[in-house]
Amino acid sequence: MLESSATVVWRLMAIDLLLKDGLVILQGKPTKRSIAIVGHTIEGIYSDGEEPPAKEVMDCTGMYVLPGMIDMHVHLRDLNQSYKEDYDSGTRAAAAGGVTTVVDMPNSVPPVLSRSVLDMKINRARKQRFVNVGFYAGIPRDVTAFDTALVGDILGIKVYPHAPLAGGVTWNSSRIHAALQLSSKYNLPLLFHPDLARGKAASITEFFSKHSCKEEANAVAMFVAALQEVGGHLHVCHVSCASAAELIMKSRAEEILTAEVTPHHLFLSRDDIHGQDGTSKVLPPLRSRQDREVLWYMLCKRCAIDCVASDHAPHTRDEKMRDFAEALSGLPGLETTVPLMITAVLEKRMTWADYLRTCCYLPARILGLRGKGILAKGFDADIVVVSPEEYEIQGDTFFSKARVTPFEGRHVKAKPVMTIVEGQIVYDHGRFVVGPGLVGCVPVRKR
Ligand code: DOR
Ligand code: ZN
Repeated sequence: MLESSATVVWRLMAIDLLLKDGLVILQGKPTKRSIAIVGHTIEGIYSDGEEPPAKEVMDCTGMYVLPGMIDMHVHLRDLNQSYKEDYDSGTRAAAAGGVTTVVDMPNSVPPVLSRSVLDMKINRARKQRFVNVGFYAGIPRDVTAFDTALVGDILGIKVYPHAPLAGGVTWNSSRIHAALQLSSKYNLPLLFHPDLARGKAASITEFFSKHSCKEEANAVAMFVAALQEVGGHLHVCHVSCASAAELIMKSRAEEILTAEVTPHHLFLSRDDIHGQDGTSKVLPPLRSRQDREVLWYMLCKRCAIDCVASDHAPHTRDEKMRDFAEALSGLPGLETTVPLMITAVLEKRMTWADYLRTCCYLPARILGLRGKGILAKGFDADIVVVSPEEYEIQGDTFFSKARVTPFEGRHVKAKPVMTIVEGQIVYDHGRFVVGPGLVGCVPVRKR
């Protein structure tokens, strides 16, 4: 009997991996489909009975099959702060958390202000990677000394007013203008930490009054005013206050003003700070319940906040368990973000369309990663398989070196069980099935 032409094409295509009978989100609803992968790329999505033959078949019955999260705000440390996190532990945490692309912040030690430091980070990340890793650079004291050799290999420029990137400078309007001119000239987003308050706070009360919502809204207002004059692309990191989110909503113009929110600002409030240690100490700080509700509204109903990013900021147990005033700010987020956000979908706080937009599609778009963030034919095969199972978050199960989490003990209803990067399974039910440095693109570049 003659083979049908479709069968002949399939033979020639040689499907490498078929994720069979999973729940793919089509038109906003989980729908049983199979995903075929050839090399690094999604070859097609097939209904039951229409799947092509494949070299390897993974049964995904009852599991959600989703694009991996693109986490555009993580601190993977490494270099002189490898004791907090390195590219091995940080990208394992990403893969285990359902995150297939991370973008690494430049406030490392040493900070990313020159091509030579970026090269050190790229080399180390290449050897240790389990997912795709992109990079940002900081801005030197003298903005005109910005190292242009960084440009092809970074995805954005970060304004961070604290050590080690503070540089003893004041973010006045001429410096903000100069930073936005860099964004405009090199067509890169200017990522901005909206809090210009400096110095250490001696108590919890002082910490909250120093890093207040007024401070956040003022900082956003200053940068937005400059954006309106200079142009460029301003991305506001971790919006935490209703007032700042409202300001962003009023000032949004297509493509040039974008914003992110963290899971800790969506799920926690100041009322969740128990005890005197630094478990929940983070910048920007946790805010009121009312702020939290406005953030959800701005993310899902008004789209004034584009996306979710973890702001994974690892510190050691000792650095977190000190008295609040002495503890360091920052929380691990790579292993909790996808479970928390999908739990929000399953509990009907947000829709599947909201999840895909805020955790996958828009981060890719903001960063200019055209082949990522969507599960469709021709896109990169960066995929997570998520089991709808309930479990308790436990920091001591994290692959990250940072295991103190304010989400300790929280029940979630979604567990990433298999992570596929560039078409290859890297993580499968708690185990890494490839060695470090074999899968993933470093550095991720715009395309
Ligand atoms: O709490 C924070 N920690 N907020 C930041 O923006 C930076 C981060 C860090 O690098 O530790
Ligand atoms: Zn950060």
